[in-house]
Amino acid sequence: MSYIDDVSPGYGALPPRAAFSSDAPSLRLNGDWRFHLSPSLAEAPSGIEHDSFDDTAWSTLAVPSNWQMHGFGKPAYTNVQYPFPVDPPYVPSDNPTGDYRLTFDVPAAWLTQPVVLRFDGIDSCGRIWLNGTELGVTRGSRLPSEFDVGSLLRENGNVLAVRVHQWSSGSYLEDQDMWWLSGIFRDVTLLARPTGGISDYWLRADYDHVSGRGHIRVEVDGPAWLSIPELGILRASTDSSIDAGVVEPWTAETPRLYEGYLASDHERVPLRIGFRTVTIEDGELKVNGKRILLKGVNRHEHHPELGRAVPLETALTDVLLMKQHNINAVRTSHYPPDPAFLDLCDEYGLWVIDECDLETHGFSEVGWARNPSDDPQWADAYLDRMKRMVERDKNHPSIIIWSLGNEAHTGRNLAAMSAWTRSRDSTRPVHYEGDAGCEYVDIYSRMYASHAEVDEIGRTTTMPFIQCEYAHAMGNGPGGLLEYRELFEKYPRCQGGFIWEWLDHGIRQVDADSRPYFAYGGDFGETIHDGSFVIDGLVFPDRTPSPGLHELKKIFEPVRISPSPAETATQAAPALPGGRPASSVSGVGGGEKGSAEAVDNLKVVVANHYDYSGLEQLSFGWKLEEDGVEVASGMLPTPTVGPGAETILELPKMPETDGESWVTVTASLAKDTAWATANHPIAWGQLNVKARQKPQGQGQGQGQGQGQGQGQGQGQGQGQGQGQGQGQGQGQGYRRHNLEPVETPQHIGGIPMQAPKLDLWRAPTENDKPSDEKIWRKNGLHRLQHRLISEENGVGKTRVAPPARAFGMHVTYTWTGDETTLNLKVDIEPEGEWPCTLPRLGLRMAIPKEFGNVEWFGGGPNEAYADSKQASAIGRYKSTVDEMQTPYVFPQENGNRKEVRWAKLTNDQAEGIKIAGNFDFTARRWTSEHLDAAKHTTDLEPTDWIYLNLDIAQNGLGTASCGPGVLPQYQLHAHKASIELTFTRLGS
Ligand code: GAL
Repeated sequence: MSYIDDVSPGYGALPPRAAFSSDAPSLRLNGDWRFHLSPSLAEAPSGIEHDSFDDTAWSTLAVPSNWQMHGFGKPAYTNVQYPFPVDPPYVPSDNPTGDYRLTFDVPAAWLTQPVVLRFDGIDSCGRIWLNGTELGVTRGSRLPSEFDVGSLLRENGNVLAVRVHQWSSGSYLEDQDMWWLSGIFRDVTLLARPTGGISDYWLRADYDHVSGRGHIRVEVDGPAWLSIPELGILRASTDSSIDAGVVEPWTAETPRLYEGYLASDHERVPLRIGFRTVTIEDGELKVNGKRILLKGVNRHEHHPELGRAVPLETALTDVLLMKQHNINAVRTSHYPPDPAFLDLCDEYGLWVIDECDLETHGFSEVGWARNPSDDPQWADAYLDRMKRMVERDKNHPSIIIWSLGNEAHTGRNLAAMSAWTRSRDSTRPVHYEGDAGCEYVDIYSRMYASHAEVDEIGRTTTMPFIQCEYAHAMGNGPGGLLEYRELFEKYPRCQGGFIWEWLDHGIRQVDADSRPYFAYGGDFGETIHDGSFVIDGLVFPDRTPSPGLHELKKIFEPVRISPSPAETATQAAPALPGGRPASSVSGVGGGEKGSAEAVDNLKVVVANHYDYSGLEQLSFGWKLEEDGVEVASGMLPTPTVGPGAETILELPKMPETDGESWVTVTASLAKDTAWATANHPIAWGQLNVKARQKPQGQGQGQGQGQGQGQGQGQGQGQGQGQGQGQGQGQGQGYRRHNLEPVETPQHIGGIPMQAPKLDLWRAPTENDKPSDEKIWRKNGLHRLQHRLISEENGVGKTRVAPPARAFGMHVTYTWTGDETTLNLKVDIEPEGEWPCTLPRLGLRMAIPKEFGNVEWFGGGPNEAYADSKQASAIGRYKSTVDEMQTPYVFPQENGNRKEVRWAKLTNDQAEGIKIAGNFDFTARRWTSEHLDAAKHTTDLEPTDWIYLNLDIAQNGLGTASCGPGVLPQYQLHAHKASIELTFTRLGS
């Protein structure tokens, strides 16, 4: 057996210790190294460790980096399955082998003292030599390893050689759902270790929430003194515990760090100390005596150009975005992150579950036979990984939970990791989702439990419960976040969880025309891969927030602003399709007032959902908008309300308005913080102070230009027939009465259109795919046929149905209107048994491409769907058709705006159409069929038309790509429904 297949953790490395910096000299060995990639060990050059080896013909490669991201080999993505035979501990002989060489000098002073060479991450196995002498072999890709090198160094021309294998026995333990990427991908550092210096320390800073005092215990491997000047602690002995006096505790909300240092006679280590105490009491996870609610995300380390070599700026971007979106926790799925990330979590305030670099999920494909988790020969490898993580990261106040790893089934090696961790660190609970019976963990953890299961767990668990993964953010979604939040707030032991996942792991590529796109599994010619399953984040690969993140921010609001019960509807809230009252599902307002006096004595409830903080750091403002136009605004006193409490906030007397009017109350940061500037919005709520009038044909826009461009309109109408494919190619328009001759029906005041027709299809989302999509396609919802039954006096009757099925929809289009406006009423009545949900229920039409400027009054600014619409606020928004697209890496239904009262689509001369009614609104330059067929964003080519969907409703999103589907209350079923629209010509 070669060292590659050996199950041991490796050899030659020093015992693990904490990662820290000090005033001892250090030298970063990052930079361009000589590099050579061979297809296998057998084909790799020999003698690379010798000074005399000639590497001048080699390439260069940056360290840290993953070689596949720089033209050597290719990235490959699998989720569960190993891309090699399950034959542990052996890996293929075709094992890409990267040889690295670096020549470096050190200051002469270094030659008289111990020196350590530290690798923060080598994927997957490295064999290391310095000046011709082997230092050892390391495995555990996302874990550090250090080697004693002092005696081997010389002042000039040191030769460091590292041979890295893509595959090793360690690969069996590193089957995380991510790209397989290899190389020296984290920092390499040479650290002078002064004799009598501090080689390791562990500082535990507890907080006694009753007395408010801090207590410090320091474990250090030699004589050392602790100083925290701010607390009056100067050169305190570390032999016994230190009473720090009254301190401000560290929490994710208030990440108070005290600067200090630990010093021996020969070394000084700067410290950032956060006082906090983690306990489990009465089945609740508490920090500083208080139950916390984890509003978390799972974070992988990925960069679209650099792979897992994530620059510090990118890690900082992640942290800032998380904080700005009300996220308070991170699980480092599924390996310890670059240590710098944890420094950021300490500094900015995020609760962390630090997870070990361990996953053997691929054994599930073979019934878990020979799974290393229960095989004694792997015991050392498991324990070694846990020790290296805990020792490296033990000084971080942000880490409140240790996690053994992910999806490695269960077994004695995991139990041993837990036992060691508990004996080493009694201050943090142990987590591992795979211990379903909670035999060796302190927290009950599940992934993707449905709402009903969480409810059941809430009623029965005796332990703290978290969902270490939930709400799979793949593509358009997740839906159903609101209902999870309700459960986490209902049951004290249900303490939140971590959305899967933070980031799309797309890799930036360009197509043959140099157009950029993000690649996913299979795009690099992998024979075994899991496609777009690696694209399931809340932010796009370049960290642009997705609509899912906007929704999450709203769900996670630490302050909730809602209409006070006194403002609740005195009149029945308008019913949404399916008979639900609007206020029961809407994130906005809920209160409805129709009369003029409603603008007086308005109140909102302000509920403080922070775990620790008051609201002093926020300022509250209000604005009144009439038909989406601001008419008044002002500031409100910041209410004094403690965590977990609520109060009523009175609003000033509002000016009278005539149109539909909403008051929006926003809580924003009063001052700059480390993670956002003053005025950054934290939370908002809306209150409807004047109900909308029943939609009717508004007279704006005057409909001039009638008759213009008729010929063109006809031509384009035929174009539609060709462009839309099966079932939509009949060119039917439904005749408008009194405006133009019936032979030229496809015009609105002279603007050609493809007339509105019933549409039930949407390009399936990735959450539709495993669930509804199959049954939708089986039942032909993607290829409906329209049969004209009759057409007279502006009334068209059709029957719309899929081929080979007996059920259908009767649709009646009734056109009325005059020279300025056209009204369309569409009545839909299902016939027969519809066997499945509907993707959507509404109309599709098209207008020419020039009308790409969009303004609307309704829900916005971002896309929203029935079960993901809390972030949608009623207002007036401006955008363009192009900007209204959400560029999901894998194209799918997107861009829907909810509860739209009117939309205007205009060209650059302000000519165009206005559509008024009450509809969900989508505009795009391609059809749903194009979207459905596209595999990458670059497959979407603009047509000559802008396709509009004016929907009564769409099915919800759910999270069935991994987890529960659409909740019943958000499912769209065939039902009798009507929609009324008014079309008005705008401009000359
Ligand atoms: C979980 C796993 C994650 C990821 C997710 C689906 O089972 O822990 O790593 O694969 O499913 O995206």
